[in-house]
Amino acid sequence: MKHEQVERSATLLLILSFLVVTVGGLVEIIPLFWLDNTIERVKGVRPYTPLELAGRNIYIREGCYLCHSQMIRPFRDEVERYGHYSLAAESMYDHPFQWGSKRTGPDIARLGGKYSDQWHVQHLKAPRSVVPESVMPNYPFLAERELKFDDIADHLKTLRTLGVPYDDDMIQNARADLVAQATGENTEGLIKRYGKKRWGSATEVKARDFGLDGKKITEMDALVAYLQMLGTLVDFKTFDTSNVENLR
Ligand code: HEC
Repeated sequence: MKHEQVERSATLLLILSFLVVTVGGLVEIIPLFWLDNTIERVKGVRPYTPLELAGRNIYIREGCYLCHSQMIRPFRDEVERYGHYSLAAESMYDHPFQWGSKRTGPDIARLGGKYSDQWHVQHLKAPRSVVPESVMPNYPFLAERELKFDDIADHLKTLRTLGVPYDDDMIQNARADLVAQATGENTEGLIKRYGKKRWGSATEVKARDFGLDGKKITEMDALVAYLQMLGTLVDFKTFDTSNVENLR
């Protein structure tokens, strides 16, 4: 009977609804002020190398995210098609994140290692030459444009202000590390700073002529380096939700 009274009086209903929403909101929001971070740290996740970061910037510039998401949801159909569902930690160094809600093309959160560099280069230049029914645009100019990276150290520095753990050594050597990764030469420093040993990643930093264009460092080199590392850092053979370490 009391219920009927509440439902019949618009004012009373409004006041009581407001109270319920307020209490619910406070219960959800207030605990967050006592947490430094809500993302759990997972072994293997490392900041992007300078070359991968440059590739990621091209990915954003070209609007690839308008057709591709980078977040595998924990549903059976997605996990069977794309692999292990995405962890929050896997995009903790992404500013801005690339989760996306539009999939004209497939999700690419675990793309790394799925295809050869040759496949990527051909597919980016002319998608229909490898997938005849594709509606993806052609990006042949990426192979011709030299990568502009004189400001790469500044990109690392900027990301550091947002909490990405780039240290002074990484910032000072950003240009050298970029060149080493794109050529596959003199990679000791690169491996020391971003390698498996330091971060516990499932795969070693890859360094080679990703764009298959010889000595030139092109936008293709950077973009393919980025695509080839996506989703490869966490070792899901040993991953277990009980051993993730909360940052708190
Ligand atoms: C207009 C929408 C559209 C845009 C923009 C787009 N793609 Fe695609 N992409 C697709 C479609 C559709 C497919 C599936 C057919 C194919 O493989 O070409 C695809 C497939 C891919 C694949 C293969 C994925 C797999 O697992 O088979 C990669 C890699 C890829 N795109 C990368 C990119 C990159 C990098 C960019 C930006 C430079 C980009 N795409 C921009 C629509 C798009």
